[in-house]
Amino acid sequence: MDDRPIGVFDSGTGGISVLRNLIRQLPGEDFIYYGDDKNAPYGTKPEEQILKLARKDVAFLLDRNVKAIVIACNTATSAAAKTLRSEMEMPIIGVEPALKPAQLARKGGYIAVLATPATLRQRKFTELMKLYGDHAVPLPCPGLMEFAQRGETQGERLDAFLADTFRDILKLRPESAVLGCTHYVFMKQAISKALGGIPLYDGNEGTARQLKRVLEQRGLLSTRSVGSVKLCTSAQSDAVMETMSRLLDMPIED
Ligand code: DGL
Repeated sequence: MDDRPIGVFDSGTGGISVLRNLIRQLPGEDFIYYGDDKNAPYGTKPEEQILKLARKDVAFLLDRNVKAIVIACNTATSAAAKTLRSEMEMPIIGVEPALKPAQLARKGGYIAVLATPATLRQRKFTELMKLYGDHAVPLPCPGLMEFAQRGETQGERLDAFLADTFRDILKLRPESAVLGCTHYVFMKQAISKALGGIPLYDGNEGTARQLKRVLEQRGLLSTRSVGSVKLCTSAQSDAVMETMSRLLDMPIED
């Protein structure tokens, strides 16, 4: 048993979509969420820079005496999880594109894999594609996370951006899509509409289950039945804090 908090980080507000699943799976835990909003986006940066930023995010959480870390960012998981795990004993769980469940449910058509350019060019993703990439078509979506980052999760501007981004992939008539960036989960409704109502998969619930398993295995679960959530940002901005709180409470379909 261990009542220390769990640290969760992302480049910005997207990881709050993961945090929601974590709270649901582990209601007795305390969570400290850190969004590196000042340095967002990560997904258009080079790998070395993402690793450097991820190290700073981890340092912020370690200073707050966390017992485990969740990388609530597909981009940072790809660029930094392996290195971070080799550098510390603490459990580090990272969200990844949910290609496996999409592939297992595939009925013969294409799977669109939406993610940041950095996630899609990493070796980790190439390895995932080797295992579950049959008929999967990666689609980098630079510019899309920024909508959720500023809390714009619906509306005409987003619809127009999505129509433009999905123009080519729609020609393949994909039967499902993977949301390989935690920011995209907040825009599920708009993305689903733009892709013709196909099923969408994300790695959030799998990440929450994995965290629970690891805490159980290592005897690190909290003794409480009700925990707490603390939101932090590198941006030192009231507007970002407001967006984070709003996203934490926003109803989204699962
Ligand atoms: N939310 C992040 C992800 O899951 C990254 C978005 C970004 O910073 O580009 O990949």
